[in-house]
Amino acid sequence: MGSQLFCCKSIDQLIEDSEQPERRLKKSLGWVSLTALGIGAIIGSGIFVLTGTAAAGEYFQAPSILRAQVLDIIINFLQGHGTANVLMHGRPPAGPSIAISFFLVAVACGFAGLCYAELASMIPIAGSAYTYSYATLGEIFAWIIGWDLILEYVVSNVVVAIGFSAYTKAQLSSFGLELPNKWSTPVWESGHWTGSCFNVPAFLIIFILTVLLVRGVRESAQANNVMVAIKIAAILLFLVVGGMLVNPTNWKPFAPSGFGGVVTGGAIVFFTYIGFDSVSTAAEEAKNPQRDLPIGIILSLIVCTLLYVGVSIVLLGMMKYTTFVSGDAAQAPVAYALQVLGANRFSRSIIVVGALTGMISSLLVFQYGQARIWYAMSRDRLFPKLFSAVHPRFKTPHWSTWIAGFAVGIPAGIFAVSDAADLSNIGTLFAFVLVSLGVILLRRNQPNRPRAFRVPLVPWFPLASVVLCGGLMTGLTVITWIRFVVWLVIGLVIYYCYSRKRSTLRAANQA
Ligand code: ALA
Repeated sequence: MGSQLFCCKSIDQLIEDSEQPERRLKKSLGWVSLTALGIGAIIGSGIFVLTGTAAAGEYFQAPSILRAQVLDIIINFLQGHGTANVLMHGRPPAGPSIAISFFLVAVACGFAGLCYAELASMIPIAGSAYTYSYATLGEIFAWIIGWDLILEYVVSNVVVAIGFSAYTKAQLSSFGLELPNKWSTPVWESGHWTGSCFNVPAFLIIFILTVLLVRGVRESAQANNVMVAIKIAAILLFLVVGGMLVNPTNWKPFAPSGFGGVVTGGAIVFFTYIGFDSVSTAAEEAKNPQRDLPIGIILSLIVCTLLYVGVSIVLLGMMKYTTFVSGDAAQAPVAYALQVLGANRFSRSIIVVGALTGMISSLLVFQYGQARIWYAMSRDRLFPKLFSAVHPRFKTPHWSTWIAGFAVGIPAGIFAVSDAADLSNIGTLFAFVLVSLGVILLRRNQPNRPRAFRVPLVPWFPLASVVLCGGLMTGLTVITWIRFVVWLVIGLVIYYCYSRKRSTLRAANQA
């Protein structure tokens, strides 16, 4: 039993399994498509929604330990103050220094990205961090990470789909077309029923993307390339239009809460970078995974960092950071700033439509990646067999794709998940920590296995990733940690009751 938990899959076996004809996926993606896949996933609703609130901070009337940051609690305990000095009213504002948060988070993601690139080039198999941990840390870690990745992908797409619905409704309304609230707003919000029946646009967008994904990955990748080009053009247009509306006095004070504000802002805007790891989920469908996966991961990260830092500098130069504390300015800061400062209506619409396109491509890649993880877990029989069935004609994991579609579409149609982004952040950061540890372990256990891409300065770079990602995790709130632990416990119960007994690794070991 103990040996099964820590038993690792052989990398050769993993590659062999993926080559079986009935389970083989179509190899059609080059480095341009992989980079576009990364940018497609990374730039979603985050930059258009979170930048304002991360800069403005948050203030709750009623103090609660659940809203305190874990890092703040640790520091206060170490200093012997107990909980007396812990900030329980919310987050301090980062102000314009949120641009530095974007840059620092990109550095943390860069270290983790290098680790993903090494493992992806060595183990070019669907399933991303799940598969890597199965080969390096053992079955129980693989399960935990797979379960954790489901949390990351499902929750972040629920958030993006809800954002998509809100932006679509607002844009249609600016054209004079009002969607009925009953069918376009969340059913359950802040602990009560709203009177709405279903958020149809949020569900519908997921449903349409699911159909597209079931029909074929090449078609989906082509659609994604076009959407990525549109969203980059829209962001560049924003930099030009918004840049002309900047008033430099808004950049002062630059860092109203000092470095503490930069870190708390970073823990929030980390959400905007989630997605570069999903490039590695496409490993089995890449034409030349050893070369193209590392390129796709690192290049998409560099492009997005430049765009994010640019957007945050311009946005916080257009209006004072305190503007974005609540209301429309908090929900849709980019659209709000353009409208209030009187930007041309035509360019405004182009930017908002570009933002919507960005959300669609992010949703597409996450739905894609999610189905691949379920597919990989099912191939190892940790999930029921159905999840790894491949469509006879389209050669895509159609059951996983449909199930992922409903797992995201239905909650997106019901909930208004205000702090779901944090939950997605903690799950992703945890995956980054395990992947980085996996690189160090695999260098020790299998030093001679060919690696098309090697992380420089091992163990220091992977350790930097562990420390930075772990540090960002402590920037999240107590309630987020509690939700995360509950999710992991549910996963462990399923593992002990179901997956452990059916695992192909166990069957192979018993044979
Ligand atoms: N990174 C994605 C976003 O910003 C999840 O929406």
